[in-house]
Amino acid sequence: MKILIHDTAEAAEKDTARRLAQAVNKKPDSVLGLATGGTMTRVYEELVALYNQKRVSFSEATTFNLDEYIGLPAEHPCSYHTYMREALFKHIDIPEAATHLPDGMASHPDQAAADYEAAIHAAGGIDLQLLGIGHNGHIGFNEPSSSLQSRTRVKTLTEDTRRANQRYFASFDETPIYAITMGIATIMDARECLLLATGAGKADAVAAMIEGPMSANCPASALQMHQTATILLDSEAASRLANRAYYEYVHPKGDDSVQL
Ligand code: PGA
Repeated sequence: MKILIHDTAEAAEKDTARRLAQAVNKKPDSVLGLATGGTMTRVYEELVALYNQKRVSFSEATTFNLDEYIGLPAEHPCSYHTYMREALFKHIDIPEAATHLPDGMASHPDQAAADYEAAIHAAGGIDLQLLGIGHNGHIGFNEPSSSLQSRTRVKTLTEDTRRANQRYFASFDETPIYAITMGIATIMDARECLLLATGAGKADAVAAMIEGPMSANCPASALQMHQTATILLDSEAASRLANRAYYEYVHPKGDDSVQL
């Protein structure tokens, strides 16, 4: 794992966006795995800014999002389809047909999940996967106890995850219980992973991911087995790392070396 600790969340978010843009500049037809959630909104703002400055184009890229709620139509204001459209897709030059999210309204969700996994494979696999991390260590909606060999499938969300996501919905009862998510093995197949975590609320999950045992109890810890995983943190998210001084010695100031 490459662990980059920035002083501020803003610096970590900008670095994440620049690394993604750099990957697309190197390989314009990149297949990108994308993430949603509060942490990613400023990453997408920065990507839109880089696009507006003509420093990156997505015209040849393909995207696959990690997950989507079951039971929310694409047009629902809280669906991840809507999140991605509003945060990124409508602001950049990616063709709509090149963007993919699981179909949360499919009449056969298990089949839709299998089809999604097959579509990723047919696109040549994911070049770069963007990831957040939940307070409970989830990546995508792979909640604790998810098989580390899992593929795209239907998952039941934990109460903890539903409470964290409740802020987007009118009430807890309206917060979806089920989602289709890429599996941990699906994520591990990505040629490169970029995980961004900011804020003190993520510090325990980050420590478990990087320094805990590899365990289905902290699904993000599977990244310990990934050969090209970069973890971008702000100072608060890094605050529980026992070996922080070593990571900062290896990559001082978050290694701000990305050129566009
Ligand atoms: P957040 O979600 O960015 O809203 O904290 C991250 C996640 O659950 O993966």
